[in-house]
Amino acid sequence: DTRDPTSLRTPIVAVLGHVDHGKTSLLDKIRGSAVIEGEAGAITQHIGATAVPLDIISSIAGDLVDPDDFDLPGLLFIDTPGHHSFTTLRSRGGALADIAILVVDVNDGFQPQTLEALEILKRSQTPFIVAANKIDTVPGWNATEDAPITETYESQSDRVRSRLDESLYEIIGNLSDEDLSADLYWRVQNFQRNVGVVPVSAMTGEGVPDLLTVMMGLSQRYMKEEMEIDVTGPGVGTVLEVKEEKGFGTTIDTVLYDGTIRDDDTLVVGGQNDPIVTDVRALLQPRPLAEIRTESRFEKVESVSAATGIKVAAPDLADAMAGAPVRVVRDRPLEDVVDEVEAE
Ligand code: GTP
Ligand code: MG
Repeated sequence: DTRDPTSLRTPIVAVLGHVDHGKTSLLDKIRGSAVIEGEAGAITQHIGATAVPLDIISSIAGDLVDPDDFDLPGLLFIDTPGHHSFTTLRSRGGALADIAILVVDVNDGFQPQTLEALEILKRSQTPFIVAANKIDTVPGWNATEDAPITETYESQSDRVRSRLDESLYEIIGNLSDEDLSADLYWRVQNFQRNVGVVPVSAMTGEGVPDLLTVMMGLSQRYMKEEMEIDVTGPGVGTVLEVKEEKGFGTTIDTVLYDGTIRDDDTLVVGGQNDPIVTDVRALLQPRPLAEIRTESRFEKVESVSAATGIKVAAPDLADAMAGAPVRVVRDRPLEDVVDEVEAE
């Protein structure tokens, strides 16, 4: 492989599932933040984007992920709300994703928004794995913080193991009711054909090394097979949120899923009436591992490549809308780009 690793596009991983099943907690665990500004336990009301670099992934996954085996720069996680009233945000998150994690509470099993999320993933043909979360709540659970699942599974009593197995096989059964062939992840050979189920705890971190390993493997294969990855072209993205920011005026929190944005680019952004044509004033990046939506300390950058979360400050953004397309004009005729945005 002779490609420059820095030119590879970061895969976008959507985290979907029923309300309270632990999506935000799982991302907080991966971020390593003890939910200071986060919202684990509170109902998520927005989409958030968190970039996790490869070296962090490999330090969490330990022996399971050797950074030399991967030429991906990391993963960009998109958190979505599970509350039933946020269907649009779930579909938007699902539509952005290259791959996904469907989070299912092992006690609660399949719930309405689990099924809804599954429909979104089926429709968009997004490869995904299931994180069977909250394994630490199985009565009698003997936790080993941050351990791979095989290790912690071995240290449970027979009774605890069979309780967990029961819940896991129920989830596998639910998936097969939806015409998906699923199994525990260590028995899955082809993750694009079969859904892998990874038992995890966002609380204790157990199974998180396995989850990250499977995601890296899945995205590496998927990105190689499915995409000509070129992140040097004009940027294409989606607005997550339109926000006033002290000192910057109206800004758009954007997921850039293709190409680059530079701080001297002209953009076309979908607006409430007509597309907005504007010049970038500043590109503001939250510090690494912070969630774009909650982080208030930004760093100005000259340019960013897909996939990433980036806050864009520019004039005339008051009419921009969450969910609207963002396109960099660069060397193309402005009218063509305006037409593209209008057509989306
Ligand atoms: P929404 O975003 O509102 O859909 O919820 P969510 O899926 O993001 O769930 P969240 O992470 O907010 O967690 C809901 C509750 O479950 C919180 O009280 C968490 O502390 C708890 N929780 C999440 N994961 C685990 C886990 O693995 N074990 C235990 N014991 N509790 C967990
Ligand atoms: Mg949440």
